[in-house]
Amino acid sequence: MRCDAFNSRNESEDTLMLLDVSAFPSQRSDCETWCHGRSCRRQQLRVVAMIFQAKIISTVLAQFEASSAVYCIPNSSGMNPSWTTATTALVAAVTISKVFKFISGLKAVDYLPGLWVPFQPLSLLGVLVPERSWNPGVIFVWTWRHTRNIYRRFDSDTVSVVPFFSGAPSIYTRSMDVTKQVVTVGHKTGAFGKADDMGRLFLFWGPNVVAVTSQDQWRKHRRVTGPAFNKDTYQLVWNATHKAYSEMIDCEGWGEKGTIDIRRIQSLTIKFTLIIMATAGFGLPFSWGEPPSHDGRMTIQQCLEIITLRNTFAIAAPRWAWKLPLPWVRQTREVFDTMRAFMNSHVQARREAIDSSADDDTSKDILSLFVRASEHDEGKLHLDNKELIGNVFALLFAGHETTSHSLAATLGFLSLHPFIQDEIVEQVHEVTKGRENGEITFDDYSKLDKALAAFYEGVRMFPSGVYLIREAKQDTVLNLSSIGEEPKMLPVKKGTHVIVDMIGVHYNPEYFPDPEEFKPARWYANSTSNAYIAGGEDHTGFSVGPRSCLGKKFATTEAVCFLVLLLRDWRVEPLLSVNVSTGEKETKEEWRKRVMQAKMTITLGVRDVPLTFTKRV
Ligand code: HEM
Repeated sequence: MRCDAFNSRNESEDTLMLLDVSAFPSQRSDCETWCHGRSCRRQQLRVVAMIFQAKIISTVLAQFEASSAVYCIPNSSGMNPSWTTATTALVAAVTISKVFKFISGLKAVDYLPGLWVPFQPLSLLGVLVPERSWNPGVIFVWTWRHTRNIYRRFDSDTVSVVPFFSGAPSIYTRSMDVTKQVVTVGHKTGAFGKADDMGRLFLFWGPNVVAVTSQDQWRKHRRVTGPAFNKDTYQLVWNATHKAYSEMIDCEGWGEKGTIDIRRIQSLTIKFTLIIMATAGFGLPFSWGEPPSHDGRMTIQQCLEIITLRNTFAIAAPRWAWKLPLPWVRQTREVFDTMRAFMNSHVQARREAIDSSADDDTSKDILSLFVRASEHDEGKLHLDNKELIGNVFALLFAGHETTSHSLAATLGFLSLHPFIQDEIVEQVHEVTKGRENGEITFDDYSKLDKALAAFYEGVRMFPSGVYLIREAKQDTVLNLSSIGEEPKMLPVKKGTHVIVDMIGVHYNPEYFPDPEEFKPARWYANSTSNAYIAGGEDHTGFSVGPRSCLGKKFATTEAVCFLVLLLRDWRVEPLLSVNVSTGEKETKEEWRKRVMQAKMTITLGVRDVPLTFTKRV
């Protein structure tokens, strides 16, 4: 039987398919008997691409001929071409080059069904151009996950996104099998690596462990950084969290109050995680009451907030744009200069302390390791000054924004689930039973798995490292089949991006049944549902394989300590808004729908979370 549904498409339908090939699944049953499902659709795409290529070229040539005729140029008579003809020629050339780029994009992903869009959603234009039905936007994996879910539409856990204007052809996946082939095996064989053009923000301050793409460079940075993540550091993190929590209660005046409304919990979590990163990570003198500042004009926290907001400008703007006489450009420049000067002065101070051997307290913290590596003679573990500063900033950003977002999400969900808060508090009481002042210590960490599970679930539902972006470093293949199925090989061309979509993985019902439900119990060590957890991985939210998160235990130590101290003293509820015209309060469901939505800064987080804290009696 022939696939008439396909062949009977008219011209306008063909053009539509350029933007969205989701029309195919709806015609699957017609086609299936003739052309075997998915391979049929790939075959159809090949044909469409060829027709389209021919059509565009002939249309452009016809236009060009017509305009040459109208403006009677250029011809053998030797007349000079007019501007209009030159423009038409230019447009024709650009159009033809884009058509060829697009067709080669389709070939690069071997015509795997998926979206055809003007800009790759993670390219600069994809980020800058506002989200529209034709421009998915940087977090379409979240915004479209119910209504236009790409995996459901194309009936596959791995789909393509091919841009026809700007950006690299990409493959998006929510399959853990494919993830491991790319992130774990691909890293080891060299077939896949971090994409050169995607780590620009992290590389802004200098080469570093998070963003370098070459394997040799990465090994060096990881060897220098890795030893800082040890038991002593986690003990420091625990103590610093304890101290910062007490300071927060004092400085914010919570001690005297029974109920506190916080319009944006992120205003506390971001300050909190910055203090922990700065003190436990770098031994810097940060405290809740006296926020540090370099020149007395702006605090370092304010600088970091502005840097986070202006990151797109920082990576995209040419040198001359930094000199524009606009107030916000001037402010951006000042903020970046202040941060650099602040870090340089602390590095210098640490260098002097190490040289005079007076740094006993901080000798093992991350900053000291970096400074020592910079003082090594040229060799395997030497960091130059740019690399040193690059690593400091990379860890600062990798370490504080991610944890802040995850804590905000966790508290948002906990506010909707009072009985889960009670379970966590009950466990704290069991663990500290018989202790005089109820002190909770770092040795208790492994027994506080209910708080850890709640945090893990927050990370699952709002994974701050939302995309693992890798680039094929050579022509290679991926096997798209699940275990036990016949192999389905997908050839992937060098330069193609493979993007592991953590929202896709974490909301994939195959790994997480009832994915929209906040269920910390799925992470309990003895949970029967543990078998499903994203292909048996501990927590995919921290990535898998050799380049997985170096700071996972740093983050979980901080989160567990913060959550148990806070929840032991306070009940958390959603701060519901009131409709000014009717005087009615929104319901908890409405609150969740309004508040618990994703937004993107440098990493993925949740919108501003308004909460009420009530003292436990
Ligand atoms: C909830 C908190 C956190 C989450 C969800 C998270 C998630 C991730 C993810 C997904 C990656 C892999 C990125 C990629 O492959 O493209 C990563 C890498 C990394 N993270 Fe985290 N992270 C968190 C906290 C931290 C903290 C606190 C630190 C440091 C103190 C840290 C340091 C790093 C470093 C250094 C890497 C790069 C590792 C490498 O390439 O070898 N992270 N993180």
